[in-house]
Amino acid sequence: MQERIDQLLQEVETLNASSGEEVEQLRLRYLSKKGLISALFEEFRTIPNEEKRLVGQLLNKLKTRATQKLDELKISFEEGGEEEDADLDLTRPTGQVRLGARHPLSIVRNQITDIFARLGYSVAEGPEIENDWYNFSALNFPVEHPAKDMQDTYFIQRDPDVLLRTHTSSVQVRMMERVQPPIRKIFPGRVFRNEAISARAHCIFHQVEGLYVDKDVSFADLKQSLYFFAREMFGEETQIRLRPSFFPFTEPSGEMDISCNICGGKGCNICKYTGWVEILGCGMVDPQVLKNCNIDPEIYTGFAFGMGIERITMLKYQIRDLRLFFENDVRFLKQFTGAI
Ligand code: PHE
Repeated sequence: MQERIDQLLQEVETLNASSGEEVEQLRLRYLSKKGLISALFEEFRTIPNEEKRLVGQLLNKLKTRATQKLDELKISFEEGGEEEDADLDLTRPTGQVRLGARHPLSIVRNQITDIFARLGYSVAEGPEIENDWYNFSALNFPVEHPAKDMQDTYFIQRDPDVLLRTHTSSVQVRMMERVQPPIRKIFPGRVFRNEAISARAHCIFHQVEGLYVDKDVSFADLKQSLYFFAREMFGEETQIRLRPSFFPFTEPSGEMDISCNICGGKGCNICKYTGWVEILGCGMVDPQVLKNCNIDPEIYTGFAFGMGIERITMLKYQIRDLRLFFENDVRFLKQFTGAI
């Protein structure tokens, strides 16, 4: 009898089934009242007393193992984790999810594009990886211009024609090549210059470029548009002044200052006690640039301007260190939410 129990024990250990029904068949075969194990218990009564202890232990072991094994098999055919899912309520509210904050540079970029949208400007974008034509040559930069120097511009070694754009003026050219005037567009984007990172400079920063080309566009239009922008951005009382400057792609060119929004023009360390802070470069589109883009300068004139979003944001929110924009410390970033 001992041998038969051992044999059944081995059999039980290797039991397998491919469906719930098969498991039930096995249960009937081994554990039902008419099953093999019950039969052994019947037989057990008839064996000599001295064998009962050992055989009884074996028999109990067989019954326990068979029950365990068949229970295991049964569970594996029940629908996965049904019991656990029973009290899962998908309509319950979750834990609190913290909302992030819009980056201050994005907030200000949106403000700038909104203000110009009110003057009829729509947004366009261009690639960050440019070639010499769009970033420099079409914009009248002479071959030996210092901006083309490796010190200022990121080129790639394999092809000196390929570079990371150093300003968004490249998008002016792409736009003018594609469409004839009237053009009234604003180009926000990321630009790259080979600069050491400090509180006032970074090798990556953001600009917004504006371009307006049509018949009879004059310097007065430029000045009035930028005056409107300055007041919308920095407040009604803001004054502007234009100083002569130079850019290869505009003629005449200017640099625009606003009255210092910190001290109101009285003089402080932000405006270096001049009462004025510079915010952008601008000018009338050079006729040669129009020609380069197949626009007839005898018919059309235009103006362009470009500003650094970091600079505008620093002035607007009185941020002293440019590096804060790139650290992504939420304690800094969350201070600007909703500040539209
Ligand atoms: N591209 C110039 C810069 O990066 C800014 C500018 C744009 C000046 C348009 C004039 C007209 O400094």
